[in-house]
Amino acid sequence: MSLTIKPILPRFGAELSGVDLTGALDEATRAAIIQAQNTYGVTVWRNTGLDDESHIAFSHIFGHVELAPRLPDGVYRHAHRELFDASNLDARGEIIQDELLRLHKRGDRLWHTDSSFMELRSAQSLLLCHEAPPAGGQTWFADTRSAYEDLPQAMKERIEPLQATHSLWWSRRRAGFPLTEEEIDARPHARHPLVHVHKGSGRKALYVAAHARDIVGMSREEGRALLAELIDFSTQPQYVFNISYRPGDLVIWDNLCSMHRGGDYDDTHHRRDMRRTTIREAPAPAVPDDPFTDLFRASGRR
Ligand SMILES: [Fe+2]
Repeated sequence: MSLTIKPILPRFGAELSGVDLTGALDEATRAAIIQAQNTYGVTVWRNTGLDDESHIAFSHIFGHVELAPRLPDGVYRHAHRELFDASNLDARGEIIQDELLRLHKRGDRLWHTDSSFMELRSAQSLLLCHEAPPAGGQTWFADTRSAYEDLPQAMKERIEPLQATHSLWWSRRRAGFPLTEEEIDARPHARHPLVHVHKGSGRKALYVAAHARDIVGMSREEGRALLAELIDFSTQPQYVFNISYRPGDLVIWDNLCSMHRGGDYDDTHHRRDMRRTTIREAPAPAVPDDPFTDLFRASGRR
């Protein structure tokens, strides 16, 4: 088996093929897949034949697989804690009718990086399509390494020392979820630098997007204007592409060198069943932990 790589943009995104992801992979193949991921930031595999178990098993080649938060009602659509539910379906597999829940999920249509609201950042996200809507529902990706490299030197120097605070509920509020600034203030935030070195490639990248709420040491107005400016810069057409899905397609993105957002589709009438594993940036903890459940518990609600 030999890995075939077809770049999507010159510096960002590639379609990979030639490897069966459903079985065990030898060391050289694993290394080649990881190398392609580090180079291109987003890789796309068509018609993989993966199911829940083989999706999770394959994910382990990238590192520690995170656990989705435990839900207060304890009712899940999946049997596996490693799967984050990125669908518009409830625990019975029916299209979500609850308007609040739908608004909560609509935050994913803003440019974001998965889990930047966590202190322990997520690196790779592996999204497997089980059911796609007949129209729309694609994912858009933006290249935060190339965008950083193309920034004017004065802007690079300005943002180099800065840190942002990130909150899941901030992006939900921006998508229309009814929360006040004060309610968000009272919930946990994570703090991350605006610029970091992407370890897999040695290139610098921006780390911004929809969960980023404020910039430490700046007024809210000034910080939010700067965040918006950086997101706008990074999502210009030369840094962006989108992927449409068929069942079995897998897209892997590196949250530490990209942003993404869900494309619109009719989520009140059409099913979109997508399941995601996520790899923590840090190595596996010595003692098993469950930081997503801890965060949601600390927030007092979903
Ligand atoms: Fe996402």
